[in-house]
Amino acid sequence: MVVEVAAVAFWAMGPAYLPNNAAVVLGGGRPLDGGRTWGGQRVLGDGKTWRGTIGGTLAGALVAAGLNGVRPIVATASGLDLPPFTVTAALTLAFGAMAGDIVASLVKRRAGFARGRAVPGLDQLDFVFGALGVTALVAPGWFATTFTPPVLLAVLLLTPVLHIVTNLLAYQVGVKDEPW
Ligand code: CTP
Ligand code: MG
Repeated sequence: MVVEVAAVAFWAMGPAYLPNNAAVVLGGGRPLDGGRTWGGQRVLGDGKTWRGTIGGTLAGALVAAGLNGVRPIVATASGLDLPPFTVTAALTLAFGAMAGDIVASLVKRRAGFARGRAVPGLDQLDFVFGALGVTALVAPGWFATTFTPPVLLAVLLLTPVLHIVTNLLAYQVGVKDEPW
């Protein structure tokens, strides 16, 4: 039961987990804020670019398409009731993840934090709230059937764990300088 809920949580959040990582690889170029400042600080900063945002959103939508493709096989093999992704849900999960991170940058600049400064907690959960929030607003029906209360709880508990584990792995493999 717990394993099934966790599996559905990971599956449903799949399209939201990749965008921010893809943006690191795909990002660069013109910043979203066009270099504009607000109260002496950049509105968002050079860490939020058009290329990263669009590339990350498309990467997340591709995850949704891929999961839809393997769903018949995986659902049959595992016996799990895995939700299919509508086009709207694919885009809201992926774009919402990017949007959460963008809003967090806005908050960080308002607080006077330099670009790239780590803010534990906010950095790990901004994309989760963005993905869930945008999806709940734009695709409320899909959201309600997919993110039942137990699944929602699993998402909030497991995402930080996933984050810690992937960072430890990335550190072990040598692609990250710090294990966090
Ligand atoms: N990135 C991007 N566009 C986005 C998000 C991220 O281009 N919408 C790229 C940028 O190259 C960024 C990197 O991914 O530097 C890492 O993302 P993140 O840690 O979110 O940005 P920071 O550089 O740490 O900036 P901030 O302090 O504003 O979070
Ligand atoms: Mg950062």
